[in-house]
Amino acid sequence: MAAQHRGTDLVDRFGRTVTDLRVSLTDRCNLRCTYCMPAEGLDWLPSAELLTGEEITRVVSAAVASGVTEVRFTGGEPLLRRDLVDIVAAVAQLRPRPSLSLTTNGLGLTRLAGPLADAGLDRVNVSVDTLDRAKFAEITRRDRLEEVLEGLAAARDAGLAPVKVNAVLMRGVNDAELPDLLRWCLREGYQLRVIEQMPLDPQHGWDRERMVTAAQALALLQQHFELEPEPEAVRGSAPAETWIVNGGPGKVGVIGSVTRPFCGACDRLRLTADGQLRNCLFARDETDVRTVLRSGLSGPALDAALAERLRANVHAKRAGHGIGEPGFVQPDRPMSAIGG
Ligand code: 5AD
Ligand code: SF4
Repeated sequence: MAAQHRGTDLVDRFGRTVTDLRVSLTDRCNLRCTYCMPAEGLDWLPSAELLTGEEITRVVSAAVASGVTEVRFTGGEPLLRRDLVDIVAAVAQLRPRPSLSLTTNGLGLTRLAGPLADAGLDRVNVSVDTLDRAKFAEITRRDRLEEVLEGLAAARDAGLAPVKVNAVLMRGVNDAELPDLLRWCLREGYQLRVIEQMPLDPQHGWDRERMVTAAQALALLQQHFELEPEPEAVRGSAPAETWIVNGGPGKVGVIGSVTRPFCGACDRLRLTADGQLRNCLFARDETDVRTVLRSGLSGPALDAALAERLRANVHAKRAGHGIGEPGFVQPDRPMSAIGG
């Protein structure tokens, strides 16, 4: 089993400690959001290269032994992974037990919210960029808003709280709808998080000028709501700046990854579905753990080798993403193959 010793082994050269591991379970998706994928989809990772559930659990186990306390499952769309409930259950058995969350587009949650909660999942984030059926079909290229909304309700009923709603704003597409989206979230008991669009699309269509900034989103909300900043202490290393709406208890988060980067407080590490460690969404280099997992090592020797790879990857983490700086290059991997 994993070494009994545990602690905060994952410290980088700038003194940041990794405590949050994002695990991408597949690069596939059943939607085709225009800012994420072309209509025909992408060249999916070959299945032989995808980590098995056991391999994933082994890496997460090594990460937990090295100090990780939060695990988030992402995709692509993680609900497409057939062994998802088993993976969640296995990771929930690790000690100290990490907190477990999931980022999903919501399709399939009506069926899976209960089993996932039973397996040990604590929370979900569901992506909803619009509540308008036609607009949803335009953004995601699929007419499935109704199922997503039912999935959200199922997550709430299953106690996967707080249920968070992620919205990426696009100028002239869904930005004007933001106040309605917040009003709806407040009514339904969901916590809205408005996300700045980042340069991670495979079409390389991102344009800084067209991005709706955190400041613009806040200005728009302030025309309709009274927003009071949540104290910094509560925010901690969370990327969202959280605002209390109309005196509470409702809140809204704004994630200004581009214009208000939080790299200095970043506590994250990512594992791709094909077994590569990435210390940043925008990393140019990856650390291969799939080869380690398939090297024939087992027992404590395998755990030690994984722990060493984790440390090496965290050590190489750069100070920031550098978007907007000269020399910034968008990573080759699209968002769907990295994990949100
Ligand atoms: N910029 C910001 N957010 C994105 N997402 C997908 N692509 C981008 C992007 N380029 C969001 C999805 C989902 C989460 C995983 O990341 O909408 O909520
Ligand atoms: Fe799928 Fe999420 Fe990409 Fe939309 S943003 S296509 S839901 S992976």
